[in-house]
Amino acid sequence: MDQIYVPPEGPPQNIHPNPMIYQKMGEDNIYLMLEDFYKCLGQSEIKEMFQGDLKKASERSAAFFVFILGGPPLYQQQFGHPRMRQRHFPFQIDEKARQVWLNCFKKTLIDADKKYQFPLEYMDSFWNFLERFSGWMVNHQTVSDSESL
Ligand code: HEM
Repeated sequence: MDQIYVPPEGPPQNIHPNPMIYQKMGEDNIYLMLEDFYKCLGQSEIKEMFQGDLKKASERSAAFFVFILGGPPLYQQQFGHPRMRQRHFPFQIDEKARQVWLNCFKKTLIDADKKYQFPLEYMDSFWNFLERFSGWMVNHQTVSDSESL
């Protein structure tokens, strides 16, 4: 099936993680966390999606996450309006790819307090963001997805 899929629940609302996360981590730790996350993606089942320079790609994502976690709008300053769903259209993202993506984040976040000074008391708010927002990035429905409906 090659039609663009639109998740019926629409764009998620009010899912910003607690802004204290940026206060505690700072920019460098967020960049480091995203670098590790992209290393995981580069070895994952969806590595074919990440063809370019992984470090550069991780830096674009990190600029976005700095803002999401309560810091300055670095991504907007460097690349313009996020339009994240639109920017993901070149990639076929189905539920399975989303799960691989989330799983890499789950691995990256093990011991995140020690590795990146992540304040664990706000982890739930971050994980909620990742789950909901990644759902909105899904733009393809595979046969196995629709079978389970
Ligand atoms: C919380 C959900 C997500 C966020 C916040 C997010 C964020 C981003 C950002 C900021 C970029 C950089 C865009 C740019 O080039 O300027 C990006 C690129 C990308 N994302 Fe996501 N993303 C999410 C979910 C996903 C999922 C679920 C997938 C696939 C399973 C995915 C695959 C990609 C790919 C393939 C790129 C291009 C990487 C490259 O430049 O090589 N993203 N994402």
